Amino acid sequence: MGREQPTAWFDELYAEGLAGAVSMPWDRVEPQVLLKEWAGRQGLDGTGRTAVVVGCGLGADAVYLASLGFTVTAFDVAPTAVEVARERFAGSGVDFRVADLLALPPEWQRSFDLVVEIFTLQALPEPPRSAAAQAVTGLVADGGTLLAIAFRADGSSPADAGPPFPLERGFVEGLARDGLEVVLIEELDGARAAAWRATYRR
Ligand SMILES: C[S@@+](CC[C@H](N)C(=O)[O-])C[C@H]1O[C@@H](n2cnc3c(N)ncnc32)[C@H](O)[C@@H]1O
Repeated sequence: MGREQPTAWFDELYAEGLAGAVSMPWDRVEPQVLLKEWAGRQGLDGTGRTAVVVGCGLGADAVYLASLGFTVTAFDVAPTAVEVARERFAGSGVDFRVADLLALPPEWQRSFDLVVEIFTLQALPEPPRSAAAQAVTGLVADGGTLLAIAFRADGSSPADAGPPFPLERGFVEGLARDGLEVVLIEELDGARAAAWRATYRR
């Protein structure tokens, strides 16, 4: 589906998913489990800090970060997703925006203390995945943190069989660029799929 248009088809998918015509596993109101566990184990406190959620989908992770005290911007390329997130979480204080990772507002460059990317890079083929990765890392402010969560390629299916396109270790390690350094790359075995949870700091 949509191989010729690596980002435009997402909006169609949301419309179909919300109408119940197709399954959309990321329609959830709870924070992603690996995000919640990561935040919980360090007692993450966002008071006085900014966060951005990349490819925020229906908004649950953004609202969770807002509940931890962060001032949160959350964006997605799919207008339908952003519209639903705004309705679902009216009053959450999250600034939900329609924006394309491949053409971000220049003022967002290096301006967030925490950048959370969950399952967006792996949703994209290559290209434009590397350009999208560059955009994700570019959001991290000096002293800021990037948290990236993705399915982990285990060699069981061809690399081009997606979406999703589970990520190779080399790609995950390669997010440490332009002054970002790896804090921890965790190789996890989730209920649905093997996963990476990686953190970086600038
Ligand atoms: C697999 S979904 C994951 C959604 C959400 N992060 C989650 O974990 O529930 C991938 C998301 O990335 C968004 N997306 C894809 N390409 C994008 C782009 N170029 N810019 C912004 N968002 C994008 C899609 O619309 C979709 O919401």
